[in-house]
Amino acid sequence: MLVYVMLRKAILPAAGMGTRFLPVTKASPKEMIPIVDKPLIQYSVEECERCGIDEFIIITGKNKRAIEDHFDQFSELDEILKQKGLNNLIEEIHRHDESNFAYIRQSKPLGLGHAILCAKAFVKDEPFAVLLSDDIIDPDDTLLMEMIEIYKKFRSPVIALQEVPDDEVSKYGIINGETVMDFGANNIPKQLYKINGLVEKPKKEDAPSNLAVIGRYILTADIFDALESIKPGRGGEYQLTDALNLLLANRVVYGYLFKGSRYDAGDKFGFLKATIELSLKRPEFSKDLQMYIKSLAARL
Ligand code: G1P
Repeated sequence: MLVYVMLRKAILPAAGMGTRFLPVTKASPKEMIPIVDKPLIQYSVEECERCGIDEFIIITGKNKRAIEDHFDQFSELDEILKQKGLNNLIEEIHRHDESNFAYIRQSKPLGLGHAILCAKAFVKDEPFAVLLSDDIIDPDDTLLMEMIEIYKKFRSPVIALQEVPDDEVSKYGIINGETVMDFGANNIPKQLYKINGLVEKPKKEDAPSNLAVIGRYILTADIFDALESIKPGRGGEYQLTDALNLLLANRVVYGYLFKGSRYDAGDKFGFLKATIELSLKRPEFSKDLQMYIKSLAARL
């Protein structure tokens, strides 16, 4: 009998060195780079919280202490804000109080697959989400919620996909898959794929498609056995992609095509775009920023 388990846990890998964002990442975590006034990792946490996920396992490494402080209590700051009557800010810095945060240190940079394996004892046998914080999904989008719905329906792992131009396939895991059914709101066709195989960062000429894995996964606990079985893959790292390929021998893995806005905020230009577009969505900046952009465009 299938017993439905609520999806309550998310793993947020945050041990990477952030070399694409040097020099700022030399001593500060990439995940703490702010878009407006919130660090990248907070966008992922909030995306999960909107879906009822309240247990976070953050995989950290060297120079990542600021992440722990960010989600921790800070009573001296509360006191100062209280004295100044800044109650809205008190509310803001306490908005994650209902969630639990656990930290696991990945002592060696052995790759995304290894980072996820580090969380095995905390996840136990529950299904869980994985979010890569440098992939920012438009907060108005419901991608993760839709993936959870697909998981509930099929009880199978679900991976978010996005179509990318041919000259960008080498930056992603690329799938080989077939459409299984029409799915989703607004009658958008061909959104759900049955994955037949994945290749991590292939050359353009070797890519099986231009459907790229983006940083949102719903996984089941059997991925840990697969992660324990794989050998170092691309770049000498333990790749989640390789473990997913192993899993395919035993079960169906779905790909869900995302058509909304995603920003690669781990890339400097992607980060600039995310900053502008997410600022435009903030009511307090929207009007002024639009006017500023128009005046700037007129000067260019
Ligand atoms: C990781 C995964 C890759 C995926 C990408 C999405 O790569 O290994 O399969 O397409 O995230 O952002 P990374 O960007 O961490 O090198």
